[in-house]
Amino acid sequence: MSVTVRVPAKVNVQLAVGAARPDGFHDLANVFLAVGLYDEVTVTPADGLRVTCAGPDAAQVPLDRTNLAARAAVALAERYGQDPAVHIHIAKDIPVAGGMAGGSADGAGALVACDALWGTGASRAELLDICAELGSDVPFSLVGGAALGVGRGEKLTALEVGGTFHWVFAMAARGLSTPAVFREFDRLAEGVDIPEPIASQPLLDALAKGDPDALAAAVSNDLQPAALSLFPELADTLTAGRAAGALAALVSGSGPTTAFLARDPGAAAQVAQALAASGTCRTVRTAAGPAAGATVIARPSHE
Ligand code: C5P
Repeated sequence: MSVTVRVPAKVNVQLAVGAARPDGFHDLANVFLAVGLYDEVTVTPADGLRVTCAGPDAAQVPLDRTNLAARAAVALAERYGQDPAVHIHIAKDIPVAGGMAGGSADGAGALVACDALWGTGASRAELLDICAELGSDVPFSLVGGAALGVGRGEKLTALEVGGTFHWVFAMAARGLSTPAVFREFDRLAEGVDIPEPIASQPLLDALAKGDPDALAAAVSNDLQPAALSLFPELADTLTAGRAAGALAALVSGSGPTTAFLARDPGAAAQVAQALAASGTCRTVRTAAGPAAGATVIARPSHE
């Protein structure tokens, strides 16, 4: 008896970052778009809490209680008086430490899976509360689609999307730590007046229209200079994607995955091929967005 949940990766089409707050976090205007690259999280009753992981990046995934999937199971169990005795298996396809919310996806996936397994009856709002405790990007992994996140990025408003956007993602040879990228942002921002982060209206309009050219003109990522400062070779990947005809090229979130917007699936395949041949990245994937949030895809047959 087990439950499997599929959870998407995300790209930030806008990431506006404010000055560091007293608690060390940064206020954001974070426009998330879920894309069709997925982790699958399966939970099965077991003698104790255990995490396993399979996939190309599995060796880099912590299997102890620091894993967001384990933390999600513990947080839900504590609220509902359950024993978090589950085996959590993560079939990992989202790059690890890549700026695509792979860890957050596993947290949201384990939460939804344990919730279905235990039948807690938790409301969506309660699940979102637990997600926000787990991490700034976890609520979005639960809801998927497209959303504006403010505060740390955890306060979400769903956004209308009027079409499908086609993306190419170039995975880098190594990961980048999100806190390190925010620290570098702070270092680069020293002595600079940082404006309050606000969502770009042209960007929201482009999403609503489903217009890739307008979206390409409006995408932005305030963490990109910090990511490039820590990982200068990413500039070569961005250049290679632009040269291959991408409408827009940007670092995804805190990086180091780079994201390329294409007009249609054919153009995306062309950009992907050129990037793979460029020698500037480890692997290349195509994915379309918006994609659905955490979804139960298999559950016990007696339910
Ligand atoms: O919320 P989460 O645990 O995913 O954040 C990871 C790290 O990213 C934080 O410890 C902080 O250094 C940085 N962060 C930030 N401002 C945000 C979100 C994350 O500074 N809004």
